[in-house]
Amino acid sequence: MIKKLDMIFPKDYVDKIICGDCLEIMKQMPDECIDLAITSPPYNLKNSTGNGLKNGKGGKWANAALINGYKDHDDNMPYNEYIEWQRKCLSEMFRLLKTDGAIFYNHKWRVQAGLLQDRREIIDGFPVRQIIIWRRKGGINFNKGYFLPTYEVIYMIAKKKFVLSKGANSYGDVWDFTQDMNNIHPAPFPIDLIYRIVSSTNAKLILDPFSGSGTTAVASLLLKRNYIGIELSKEYCSLSEKRIKRNKKSPEYMKEGELFFGK
Ligand SMILES: C[S@@+](CC[C@H](N)C(=O)[O-])C[C@H]1O[C@@H](n2cnc3c(N)ncnc32)[C@H](O)[C@@H]1O
Repeated sequence: MIKKLDMIFPKDYVDKIICGDCLEIMKQMPDECIDLAITSPPYNLKNSTGNGLKNGKGGKWANAALINGYKDHDDNMPYNEYIEWQRKCLSEMFRLLKTDGAIFYNHKWRVQAGLLQDRREIIDGFPVRQIIIWRRKGGINFNKGYFLPTYEVIYMIAKKKFVLSKGANSYGDVWDFTQDMNNIHPAPFPIDLIYRIVSSTNAKLILDPFSGSGTTAVASLLLKRNYIGIELSKEYCSLSEKRIKRNKKSPEYMKEGELFFGK
């Protein structure tokens, strides 16, 4: 059953970080009201057949913070429940997209019980147009049975009329961006990755239903687009608000008038 929230679209949504459950909140929004969704859901990393994260051996890596899960989500759902949840989230995002919109859905493939788990159960049936490889600096899942995984994937799930902004296709489909090491959130997007995505589209209103520390909102703001962020944890919501405020005064990622792109 859908819990009716006392919120009016667009007034209570646009340029806001909404603190709550993303499915509940997306369900209150009208069809075809956003241009773009960019998101990275919890990866369910603690539901694992055994790797560095589960064993608490994160080493020096920032992502070792994920050993503890998120503030209000333990990242440990039964596998089938997780798949069903993520498919519901994608269905809602897809319903909210305009006919020329797209979803950039970031996820991580991993080896479970010796076999590649490539997340196809989540995206099966959605119109995936392209997979972008986000090559990170190094990795954390050391295992003698396979090479150290160093990339994540971004599924570009596009409605038929979606096109990129002029010239953006020349970025190609393998992107190098170093993970953000200066964020107290355990799994933030690097801002320049999201800047790349937003600036590669003509989107005016951008949704991130798992907005974490508000990186999508900040990148949208820098590019003078509108955003809607949804995040379960009150602590991350207030972290995002502070970050957005600070960026309105002086963009933290500007140096000599230029934004940093992939390193
Ligand atoms: C991978 S992180 C996103 C990080 C974000 N991309 C950033 O740059 O900071 C996933 C986020 O989803 C949030 N989350 C978990 N369950 C949620 C739910 N049901 N609704 C909204 N957010 C949720 C977690 O608290 C976590 O901050």
